[in-house]
Amino acid sequence: MASVIYRHDGRPVLFNQVNSYPGWRVLAGLASAREYFAMALGVPVGQLVQRMVAALEQPVAPPLASQAACQEVIEPEVDLNRLPILRHFAFDGGRYVTAGILILNDPDHGPNAAFHRLLQLDKRRFAARVVEGRGTDRALRKVSGDLPVAICIGNGLPALLAASMSPPDGVNELAVANALAPTPVVACRTVPLYVPADCELVLEGRLTHTVAPEGPFVDLTETMDFVRPGPVIEIDCITHRYAPIYQALLPGRLEHKYLMGIPKEPTIMAAVNQVCRCTGVVITPGGTSWLHAVVQIEKQSPDDGRAAIEAAMRGHPSLKHVVVVDTDVDIFNPAEVEWAIATRFQADRDLLIWHDQPGSSLDPSASHQPGRKSRTAKMGLDATIPWGAPRANFQRVRYA
Ligand SMILES: Cc1cc2nc3c(=O)[nH]c(=O)nc-3n(C[C@H](O)[C@H](O)[C@H](O)COP(=O)(O)O)c2cc1C
Repeated sequence: MASVIYRHDGRPVLFNQVNSYPGWRVLAGLASAREYFAMALGVPVGQLVQRMVAALEQPVAPPLASQAACQEVIEPEVDLNRLPILRHFAFDGGRYVTAGILILNDPDHGPNAAFHRLLQLDKRRFAARVVEGRGTDRALRKVSGDLPVAICIGNGLPALLAASMSPPDGVNELAVANALAPTPVVACRTVPLYVPADCELVLEGRLTHTVAPEGPFVDLTETMDFVRPGPVIEIDCITHRYAPIYQALLPGRLEHKYLMGIPKEPTIMAAVNQVCRCTGVVITPGGTSWLHAVVQIEKQSPDDGRAAIEAAMRGHPSLKHVVVVDTDVDIFNPAEVEWAIATRFQADRDLLIWHDQPGSSLDPSASHQPGRKSRTAKMGLDATIPWGAPRANFQRVRYA
């Protein structure tokens, strides 16, 4: 199945019949093109980032449904082996849930939703990858016992997008999802949590302080992430639709890349807008959709390019390299961005470099030590037209 999904990268794939898993269908690739996000939110591709900025600024509490499709069937017994969870590579640590949204209540800030890859350990348990310092990790550190969780699988794009965002503490990601498109919620059966009513499958249980080896796993960078201890999740109840579709996601390919990268574009845009006028942001798939961004600005003062670089790094702390361009450069076209670097950028004038910064745990070239935030160098290229230079010298001719 993983290789079929790979061959259709960029398009949704629905498996109507899966050997040994009667009653289940499997879907992958729902989020594998920028156009699908635009379709789901009813905006052109170029307006996606503004739409997400608006939803982040004005979340709308989701309506509460009394009945929900995701609870049509309540499994009499928990057996994760009955779910068509994929193993993507022979050398992966095992079968991995990759498109699950984990919802919990932070004791201080309320509901939090985030993706966590989950390695199936046995019939009832997973080992989770929980990145240090993010919502799930911070919530778990606040409690001495188990933390109730719900893992929702088979979500629409608004919920998937919102779960990948990190809004300020106290902002419920499901309210951000509901501001993107109507996302009613329903109360879980065995835990005091609310989940998107229209998802396909919900695993209710507890995030524990017990740890188990998690990994190896091919991650966003298409390189192997190593084995670390991860907290164990115990599942106590499974609910799903009558004819459920299990949502799969092939790690490292386009769907993973867009879901990681696109939600960081609004936070970069908001940060850059604080220092100058930002007209577009794209996190590029070539930069693993996490480590590289292109920022477009309408330059109004000599230092705008430099200020935009610094702000972009604040807006997405895992960002490693950023290029800033003017409004006449198509940020979705890598050749145009490179053209701007070739014709507007001088390395000894327009390059910013930082040494030994906190960076992404996903970057194999960074320095990684157990229990310590990964460290990396960072770089920003100001490829905007130098201030005061005659614009005519930098303008691209039109051939038609
Ligand atoms: C497909 C996908 C898989 C992800 N896997 C993980 C993961 O295994 N562990 C993790 O900590 N974050 C993972 N993330 C990132 C978090 O979902 C993301 O950082 C989220 O914004 C964290 O939200 P929070 O800061 O509100 O907790 C993943 C994101 C996506 C889109």
